[in-house]
Amino acid sequence: MFVENDFVCADFKIIPTFTVSCKAPSNIALVKYWGKFEHQLPANPSLSFTLDNCHTATQIQFKQKENTSDFSFDFLFEGKPKESFKPKLVGFFKRIEKYCPYLKNYHLVIDSKNTFPHSSGIASSASAMAAMSRAIMELEKQLNPTITNDFLFEKASFLARLGSGSACRSLKGEVVVWGKNKRVEGSSDLYGVPFGEMHSVFNNYQDTILLVDKGEKQVSSTVGHQLMENHPFAKERFAQAHENIEKLKTVLQNGDLDEFIAIVESEALTLHAMMMTSSPYFILMKPNTLEIINAIWAFRAETKTPLCFTLDAGANVHLLYPTNVKETVIQFVKTKLVAYCQNGQYICDELGTGSALH
Ligand code: DP6
Repeated sequence: MFVENDFVCADFKIIPTFTVSCKAPSNIALVKYWGKFEHQLPANPSLSFTLDNCHTATQIQFKQKENTSDFSFDFLFEGKPKESFKPKLVGFFKRIEKYCPYLKNYHLVIDSKNTFPHSSGIASSASAMAAMSRAIMELEKQLNPTITNDFLFEKASFLARLGSGSACRSLKGEVVVWGKNKRVEGSSDLYGVPFGEMHSVFNNYQDTILLVDKGEKQVSSTVGHQLMENHPFAKERFAQAHENIEKLKTVLQNGDLDEFIAIVESEALTLHAMMMTSSPYFILMKPNTLEIINAIWAFRAETKTPLCFTLDAGANVHLLYPTNVKETVIQFVKTKLVAYCQNGQYICDELGTGSALH
């Protein structure tokens, strides 16, 4: 287990150029991260499924430069320069400077693309920050070949967290826990850790994302997290997240899908209940989000199919189900749920393993 100081890179030898391509997926939280402290430390532990198809692919060319007083980079999104992303990246580089002092020795050309539509409402910050952090760690490995693979992934997760909290769960593992919990061995507030062995019912677990509303959110996650600071139910909520992580740990090992569904749906609704009881309050669900939830409950009662939903900080609905009921669920999506999706759009995804060289 690493502590913060372990991530300060003191020993490195600059090489003139290096180019690397990495990809990292999005992830969907089952136990939600909602509320944080300074330095992107989470107010409660969270647990997520790593996705596969929805990912960001990032290539970075590092070219040594003379002047090391500042960061220097070009950012291309889908092959075209994108100036509007630059301030966020500058903020990120400043936050990680202490840990990656070698970055100022290079000019970076960053070329990034997503496999999912940018306007789909699927958070791209998690996959983007994870892919970028992995690429930076691949450079660090060149500058200091003594680092181990475990260190590379954990520091990549640590860096990604400083970019966007949930991004630290997109580096390695099908299921990732971020945030200290006494029953999850090795868990840390600083980075995500892969959850161990799971019951076979979760092999290739499916996530079909129903795109209900692709517009800009009225309230960003950053603001939502802040509103947990003086939230009347914060203390209870944070305690509940610990309990749910512990319960889910057992369920992921014993494969009890009824219990899985109960925890996952309760977490999704609790996240939105926190939003609705913040000051100021807000609602990110749309009428069609509720239509879908009711249709899922009716379908489940009628067919006993172990299909459940979760929500992120928006109106889209993630359908989670085991791979052996895929045909039945896709049929249900096509006949019933697609009518509630914007332009009839949905994305089929499943459990993946995290970041990779590309
Ligand atoms: C509702 O990771 O996007 O998706 O740390 O401010 O970048 P920042 O927030 P972000 O928050 C994600 C919130 C969530 C729940 C989750 O993914 O755990």
